[in-house]
Amino acid sequence: MLGEPLLHFPELDSTNTDLKRRAALGAPEGLTVLADSQTHGKGRLGRTFQSLPGKGLYLSVLLRPQVPLEVAGRFTAWAAVAVCRALEKELGLAADIKWPNDILVHGKKLCGILTEASGSAVILGLGLNLTQTPADFGPDLAAIATSLSQLGFAPDPTRLTHAILSELDELYRRFPADSAACLADFRSRCVTLGKDVLLVRPTGSTPAKALDVTDTFALLVDISGRRETVSSGEVSVRGLLGYTP
Ligand code: BTN
Repeated sequence: MLGEPLLHFPELDSTNTDLKRRAALGAPEGLTVLADSQTHGKGRLGRTFQSLPGKGLYLSVLLRPQVPLEVAGRFTAWAAVAVCRALEKELGLAADIKWPNDILVHGKKLCGILTEASGSAVILGLGLNLTQTPADFGPDLAAIATSLSQLGFAPDPTRLTHAILSELDELYRRFPADSAACLADFRSRCVTLGKDVLLVRPTGSTPAKALDVTDTFALLVDISGRRETVSSGEVSVRGLLGYTP
């Protein structure tokens, strides 16, 4: 069962980094690490993830999937679906997905997901904004991020954690056999599709139109009449006018 055992700390460098260390020492699948704050919270593509004390849910789950790592990488997208389902069931909140795995509400980011491989283990980390005010986020982040309290919700973090872990567990048990259903759910929530976007790489940005999510959860785009698939490890996607596509 994902979430068993669960270790809860007041502060860690990063729940992903902590779990990586435990994975190297042979920790079991399902082990989950939760922190009230992170001093070195990590985001995708080498970014930092703001992790203010007591304001967000910062947790990581250790997976030891029996499938090749390139297939296991898809679990990031499955996790995005699991978080959306948990928010819907627990709070009645409808959330969208910005490809590949940001959870948005009204166009602002509520939750980010970072999956890292560590040997044959996979560390699935998620950071969900609970009570940050715009002032907590600061001017840059406030323009693109939201929290459950800003959306009018005051959930019990423990309940929400268990709701998320339970949805993750249910999907993980059916991984990857239930791909078609999960992909359909992902596509129906994915706000990126049909939009003009910028594909942002370290080498520069390319305008494109987002067409579809492939069955490996890559993004099919049209770049000046040429079709290409891009993977989550290589690009981030921006709207032409900012964060939201
Ligand atoms: C992103 O939005 O780029 C991904 C953010 C992932 C943040 C979570 S918080 C818990 C876990 N530990 C980390 O250091 N990062 C992830």
